[in-house]
Amino acid sequence: MKNQGNGGGKQAAGIRAAGMVEDGSAIGLGTGSTVLYAMEEISRRISEGMRVTGVPTSHQAAIRARAMGIPLATLDDFPVLDLAIDGADQVDPSLRLIKGRGAALTREKCVADAARRLVIVADEAKMVSCLDAVVPVEVIPFAVTPVSCAITALGGTPVVREGMKKDGPVITDNGNFIIDCAFGRIPEPARLESMIEALPGVLSCGIFSGYAGKTVVIVGGTGGCRILSP
Ligand code: 5RP
Repeated sequence: MKNQGNGGGKQAAGIRAAGMVEDGSAIGLGTGSTVLYAMEEISRRISEGMRVTGVPTSHQAAIRARAMGIPLATLDDFPVLDLAIDGADQVDPSLRLIKGRGAALTREKCVADAARRLVIVADEAKMVSCLDAVVPVEVIPFAVTPVSCAITALGGTPVVREGMKKDGPVITDNGNFIIDCAFGRIPEPARLESMIEALPGVLSCGIFSGYAGKTVVIVGGTGGCRILSP
């Protein structure tokens, strides 16, 4: 099954990230179209003899990795990962991220936290001077209304994400809802992240502000890739 993502920079970034995977390592496999390019290249390297085990962050990642012949495990097997490869919706100059368009943010954050190095694959369209994308928040269904009220009190506009080919709310791989929260510009991502994640019923939010020190961002473009590191 070939990746149906929109190629170009994403493919270049994915292939470069796959080149950072070392023989014998345990790696996190993020979710989204850009990571799938990395997985295709990892699969190719496995066919040449590289040994690697992947911990998938979603059903999408698990299904695609299995189809590509990438051996899979869980965080119970590898609570510490050598490296994780993941995509992002926005990246700021301090390498803080917004993630979660694919509703996989909670497992992506668990895997990012477990990884010694976080390799983010993106194209130029994701690079911004200040984070301002909608912030996905994964919340248990029981708490969706009080959390929405609290988000409004924090200055955000919450919208429960609806399914595309399913009536009603999107149900995450963990059985929860996603509230997409528009805040406009986010000048203090760490502060907003901790305030949202302190709300009872919230599992995680899509702001990833705490991993910049171990993050490498590979930005793919038509002329190749540029690498951003702290
Ligand atoms: C999924 C994510 C994705 O990594 C992010 O949305 C980027 O996706 P893509 O590579 O398809 O643009 O956070 O929850």
